[in-house]
Amino acid sequence: MLRLAILSSGGGSNFQALIDASRQKKLGCFQPVLLVADRPCYALERAHEAQIEAELLDRREWKKTLSEELNSLLKSKNIDAVALAGWLSILSGSVLEEWKGRMVNIHPSLLPRHGGEGMWGMHVHKKVLESGDQESGCTVHHVVAKVDGGAILGQAKIKVCPDDTPERLAQRVLVQEHRLYPLILSQWSETL
Ligand code: GRF
Repeated sequence: MLRLAILSSGGGSNFQALIDASRQKKLGCFQPVLLVADRPCYALERAHEAQIEAELLDRREWKKTLSEELNSLLKSKNIDAVALAGWLSILSGSVLEEWKGRMVNIHPSLLPRHGGEGMWGMHVHKKVLESGDQESGCTVHHVVAKVDGGAILGQAKIKVCPDDTPERLAQRVLVQEHRLYPLILSQWSETL
């Protein structure tokens, strides 16, 4: 099995979807073995419940050395691949080089539309509605220095409803994220 680390800053529903997929033997060669959070968040609770090791690298404490500290942690735990799932800290430097091709993210829009700095959470869904897009969805992509700029591994599309609010759109996209991420990670794990 390949040792998978998940990075989260929030509720961790994508992390939970990966835990559930793994339990159902639907995560391919990946075994979720580590949760890393950059702030106290509910994802840490989910890790505890699932008896998965969890580390809090508080961004307020590590500041500019967060990326380096994360790199050291991942190597010390013999991690094979990394899945960002609602991770909000921008990564930089050697961690991106050393994990190039082994680090992916899920973003709640159809990249390249509505990605980049500042495009996270409700900001994304508000932008989709303001832009008058007829469809939205989510994207799994490689993590590179350019935020949300890496090669795309897969996407799931949904129709935008005329009376959509950002909250309702977010909910429908999240359902697709929970389906897409395990599927793409499972396929990706066979290529590593
Ligand atoms: C999801 O919308 C994901 O696309 C984005 O952040 C959110 C994470 O939600 N990266 P959760 O913490 O997995 O519930």
